[in-house]
Amino acid sequence: MTRIVRTRAELRAALDRVERPVGVVPTMGWLHEGHRALMRQARAADATTVVTIFVNPRQFNVADDFMRYPRNEARDLDICTAEGVDLVFAPPASEVYPPGFDTVVSVGAVARPLEGAARPGHFDGVATVVAILFGLVRSDHAYFGQKDAQQVMVIRQMARDLAIPTEVIACPTVREPDGLALSSRNVHLTPAERAAAPVLHRALVAARTRWAAGERSADALREAMRATLAGEPLAEVDYVSVADAAMLTELDRVEGQALLSLAVRFGTTRLIDNESLGAEPAVG
Ligand code: PAJ
Repeated sequence: MTRIVRTRAELRAALDRVERPVGVVPTMGWLHEGHRALMRQARAADATTVVTIFVNPRQFNVADDFMRYPRNEARDLDICTAEGVDLVFAPPASEVYPPGFDTVVSVGAVARPLEGAARPGHFDGVATVVAILFGLVRSDHAYFGQKDAQQVMVIRQMARDLAIPTEVIACPTVREPDGLALSSRNVHLTPAERAAAPVLHRALVAARTRWAAGERSADALREAMRATLAGEPLAEVDYVSVADAAMLTELDRVEGQALLSLAVRFGTTRLIDNESLGAEPAVG
């Protein structure tokens, strides 16, 4: 039976009685196959699986984006039940940020480029809410999608620096058959934009193919991504990046592990995707 709790006190009481290890899957709801894969990974490894559903206002730098973020709690709860989740924490904002709340968790260098540069304040909001959720759930493991690769790195840094005992586990990106990474934001795409959106994945594959053939110039790989994206008139490029996998600094040459990543707008919808080079896919 999936139980839903909404307050810190209810959560604490429910957690007192559960078996360890406890795995948590933090989400903002509008659950899809990507989230479900994280739940399955938690279920396989942990005695108790907790899903949190909270559309965190602090990580949206554009108020509009927060307002139009899709929500459907009833459907989300059905999905959690179908996945055998033990406990869902779906709090109102006042339970996450009680009156007088006045702390920001701000991660350094790894949070600055890419999404950090494109969305000022975004990772402060993410690190702050995840630190609170880790504190409330006291989970042994926490599962995050490689789809948001920089987010995983920011949360790992935060947990290490704040001596939070939760182990952060990254899970592979789940994609539609045409390569589009699942995202709650895909629902905003018009049919024409949806048809164009797999170009993100094609651009990553183009760069990866050049790399696999021996290309080591990061500019050549960036150009391979840009050339692919240029073939899609609805795609407006925000950034393409070939960065070092540890600190996300832009590379001249790809000698070790690297992260290919990009952000592309289709109308008012902004999509991101990434692919690792020179590393096994991040599982476990
Ligand atoms: P949300 O976008 O709901 O994503 C919740 C988790 O699902 C994240 O770890 C994300 O990386 C993962 N995810 C999303 N799409 C995925 C896909 N196609 N394949 C695999 N995993 C995928 O990310 C957030 O929420 C928030 O920033 C949060 C961490 C909950 C803090 O508010």
